[in-house]
Amino acid sequence: MPKTLINTFAKKLIAWHGASGRSGLPWQNNRDPYLVWVSEIMLQQTQVATVLERYPRFVKRFPNVKKLAAADIDEVLAEWAGLGYYSRARNLHACAQQVMTEFAGRFPSDPVLLEQLKGVGRSTAGAIAAFAFHERTPILDANVKRILARLFAVEGAIQEKTTNDRLWKLASDLLPSCPEDMPVYTQAIMDFGATWCTSRKPVCLGGEKRCPFAKECQANLSGLVLSLPKKVIKAESPEFECDMLLMRFGNSVLLQKRPSRAIWGGLWSLPESSWAIKVSKKNMANPSLRALFKDILPEEKSAILLKVCKTVQRYKEIKHVFTHRRLWMQFWEVHASKEVKFSGANLEWVPLSQLGRYGLPQPIKLLLQGLSLVRGDDLKN
Ligand code: ADE
Repeated sequence: MPKTLINTFAKKLIAWHGASGRSGLPWQNNRDPYLVWVSEIMLQQTQVATVLERYPRFVKRFPNVKKLAAADIDEVLAEWAGLGYYSRARNLHACAQQVMTEFAGRFPSDPVLLEQLKGVGRSTAGAIAAFAFHERTPILDANVKRILARLFAVEGAIQEKTTNDRLWKLASDLLPSCPEDMPVYTQAIMDFGATWCTSRKPVCLGGEKRCPFAKECQANLSGLVLSLPKKVIKAESPEFECDMLLMRFGNSVLLQKRPSRAIWGGLWSLPESSWAIKVSKKNMANPSLRALFKDILPEEKSAILLKVCKTVQRYKEIKHVFTHRRLWMQFWEVHASKEVKFSGANLEWVPLSQLGRYGLPQPIKLLLQGLSLVRGDDLKN
């Protein structure tokens, strides 16, 4: 590795941040590990613009680790609704409880201990330790991997352990020598990857901005910028389909709480059939109510509902793209002529005016909004 770069990288990157990095974000410049942790988890799969909107609301509702740990998981999921990747919200809640019970309510400063917390990986542990405790410890998210793979022309696939180990070592070697520089350095390397050394339009290939590392970057010097880091070709994600029941009675809709380990775990959704590999349903007749209920509801609930429902109407079909699969949801609208009381099966009639209190998957929330079922203030986010 070029010695000069080791000595100068952090200084140059911090100078770059002063001129071109992000500043003034509400989670920056604070040393409260709780606030740092919440922002880092929220930022993991969510754009900064969205986090700017949702983070202040979240920490207002749950201002410290004790309050978050004591909250009901449904409250946390409802506050998280719309941000996606709900395991983050479940882990956030479990982690708050872990901090209360295992660490007496105080986040540890040691990244090795931070990494033991639920939902906190090695890079996030590094970010919390750097921002909140000024620990000299590296981060290595996808942006940082890209920067380092280019600077040092690391050719292996980043999924491979040897490549990953090499990148962690580089990340560690490049840290600033002064612990007080850790917060700005960590923010700088995140920002540099997110805004300048980007995957498809890095500034070195444009003509307007001058990358501070243009003369040292091995990928730039050898014309390899767009081919590094090496991309591994992903298989097409499989397509599934399911039927979803939009069961209405008066101003209420029937919701079902999803099992905590499933996709959208712990959220409230419309009752659904099991998923099947997608086949073309062109020209297929509508199912009978009996057949539809059989696929979606427990037998005894289905028998009761059959007595109060007469017809079923095909409603929208919506495709939702998850990280590793695509799901086509066919919605079926059914009106009940009487309210049937349920116990068990996690089924609940929810008045439309109360929907905002429930954590709903985003496409289900949009569907209910699109139906104009909901008054303007019921589903806020
Ligand atoms: N992504 C993860 N952490 C971040 C941060 N602190 N600032 C901007 N984007 C981020």
